[in-house]
Amino acid sequence: MADFDPVTKAVVPAAGLGTRFLPATKATPKEMLPIVDKPAIQYVVEEAASAGLLDVLMVTGKNKRSIEDHFDRAYELEDVLEAKGDEHRLSQVREPASLATLHYVRQGEPKGLGHAVLCAKQHVGDHPFACLLGDDLIDRRDPLLQRMIEVRGAYGGSVIALMEVPREQVSLYGVATIEATGEDDVVKVVDLVEKPPVEEAPSNWAIIGRYVLDPEVFAVLEETPPGRGGEIQLTDALRTLAGRDADKGGPVHGVLFRGRRYDTGDKLDYLRTVVKFAADRPDLAPDFLPWLREFLDEIG
Ligand code: UTP
Repeated sequence: MADFDPVTKAVVPAAGLGTRFLPATKATPKEMLPIVDKPAIQYVVEEAASAGLLDVLMVTGKNKRSIEDHFDRAYELEDVLEAKGDEHRLSQVREPASLATLHYVRQGEPKGLGHAVLCAKQHVGDHPFACLLGDDLIDRRDPLLQRMIEVRGAYGGSVIALMEVPREQVSLYGVATIEATGEDDVVKVVDLVEKPPVEEAPSNWAIIGRYVLDPEVFAVLEETPPGRGGEIQLTDALRTLAGRDADKGGPVHGVLFRGRRYDTGDKLDYLRTVVKFAADRPDLAPDFLPWLREFLDEIG
């Protein structure tokens, strides 16, 4: 195995406008919408921490305060809970601040995911790093990020996560042209296209919100003009890297993900996520599931 620089930092872009979830996202970042009783972004930070990434940089935007507050201590609230002797809630309130060392950088204008990643350049430096989208959840039972870090360790370059989607949905995603490697769940990415029309999509393998990126991505992003939607697209930068040799920041590999993933920035997927997470909760499921069955019967 080649000896590549280890991945220790995570970047979580959370500065998008969240227009698909208006009006809720007018004053609240979509990453702060609760999935049962925790904001989506807490699950994302938990995932980074459980992959060993304890240095997490959030790229935030205009409505950043609630994210920072959530991952900070809340002494007044803690004092009240302490006085009541409510240890359980006290530990829930303290948990977010103890998951990782959080850093923040602000993306002045939401100029696209690629631009958000570029805002992490100074903090990340010349090391590979993980990038986890703050509204995209991967089920904790499906250790995708660990696998991606392993793949980076073996092949160098950058690694993206690919998920097979129904043909009619390809135009919602970046889509990859892939080639087999000797490994079942790893492919070489030959080309990428952001949100192609259905008839032009090169495959049904869509990019989902987990990346392990070579630091060369920063230099490429600096040269990447605005693409689809007038935004600087991470997909366009990865496309450039996919065509490069190892000494210039390439190649790009894909891990084929066949697990559970939830796009909480989409209203319908958000509803599914809340129901699924509630159904998995031992403290809620015994009451929630019988109610849900009855409700479904009632509405036919
Ligand atoms: P999305 O593609 O979901 O875009 O961003 P969006 O603008 O946030 O949401 P919609 O489509 O208008 O509803 C994917 C990820 O990239 C971040 C988002 O916060 C999200 O985690 N992002 C996007 C930024 O940080 N900055 C940007 O300029 C754009």
